[in-house]
Amino acid sequence: MTDETSTGSGLILAIESSCDETAAAVVERGSHTLSSVVASQIAIHSRYGGVVPELASREHLRNIVPVVRAALDRAGCTLSNLDAIAVTSGPGLAGALLVGISYAKALAYATGKPLLAVNHIEGHIHAVLLEQRQLSATAAADSISQPMPLPALALVVSGGHTHLYLTRQQGSPRDGGWTYQNVGRTVDDAAGEAFDKVAKLLGLGYPGGPWIDGLAPHGNSKAVAFAFAQVKAKLHRPGQRAAMPRFLFSFSGIKTAVLRYVEVHDLQSSIRARHGALAEITSPLLSDVLPLCDAQTLDLIASFQRAVVGDLKRKTFLAAEVLGAHSILVSGGVAANQELRTRFTAEAAKRGMPVAFPSLALSTDNAAMIAAAAWPKLLAGDFAPANLSADPSLALGR
Ligand code: KG4
Ligand code: ZN
Repeated sequence: MTDETSTGSGLILAIESSCDETAAAVVERGSHTLSSVVASQIAIHSRYGGVVPELASREHLRNIVPVVRAALDRAGCTLSNLDAIAVTSGPGLAGALLVGISYAKALAYATGKPLLAVNHIEGHIHAVLLEQRQLSATAAADSISQPMPLPALALVVSGGHTHLYLTRQQGSPRDGGWTYQNVGRTVDDAAGEAFDKVAKLLGLGYPGGPWIDGLAPHGNSKAVAFAFAQVKAKLHRPGQRAAMPRFLFSFSGIKTAVLRYVEVHDLQSSIRARHGALAEITSPLLSDVLPLCDAQTLDLIASFQRAVVGDLKRKTFLAAEVLGAHSILVSGGVAANQELRTRFTAEAAKRGMPVAFPSLALSTDNAAMIAAAAWPKLLAGDFAPANLSADPSLALGR
């Protein structure tokens, strides 16, 4: 294990380009963010209603150099001040990942700094941990805030993932490696994907989550009843050792149920009108969209969000209880959802279980979370091979 002196000041430059955000950040010792720059491609992809992989790669190529320069400038450092360069190696879009990886490798080679490969999902978990460390550092003097008790159950809920991990730290709290045991996942769509698809179906913009989040409080969430099928997990085959219980999600059914509701209630023409009106506005705001939604559509949106958040909450807290987790960490783009935060916070308070979310800026894709996840790897000397490549379906943990 590398000791503290050989990690210098502990400055890591991280690069993230797994989907539609080009991001770079400089973070000191995995706990102090000096800069975090994100160039969003939402404006490019929104007219197609989803991420177009070829356009994403092209935009990453355009943005990577200025974004990295901005991150270094805002952190007040140069490449020579860094101790390592970290990059997301997967999962994600192959072409998009390759832009970040190639640039990070070139920087590492040119400067002689070590290269660290980070799993994007691990990054999302560390977005919460990074901010909890920052909070506990500022509160240390009056001991108001403590870092999250472990093991923690991490719900990573985004456009590409809905996963549950039992998260532990091995070794001393300062430099131990993190381990992740996958105890739950979606069997079809990710929750964020369901938000995006339902928003598209209703003629709203991309990404759909923020629109649904903003519109839901204006509808009656009890108006439409959505039922979630209980997905049975295969625990183990006869003769095999009993496996960890698995908690499975499924979000493709609710998307079909929304489609059926739209057809049965003849909402298509109002959806077309809404879509057409929004296409005329360059960057629509909630105040532009709200008058374009009738009460029935707002009720549908509110009921959809209530059902999805309810299912995430039920299974996450059940998993935490069954697996003996001491806290819950929620991260990924859907963690920005207001109803999710409110209901998880209320349930956690009822159970006396600490729960933490990243700030809104660190909920969606960013590079500060990649730098935070890279810090224990730097301490452990867990460097990436010279032939590091993109792994679009990289898994996390066992
Ligand atoms: O983590 P992220 O930026 O990228 C992936 O790794 O997928 O997550 C993006 C996803 C999108 O599906 C988006 O609709 C969803 O997060 N999202 C939200 C909210 N903000 C973003 N979903 C619900 N409510 C939100 N406020
Ligand atoms: Zn993500």
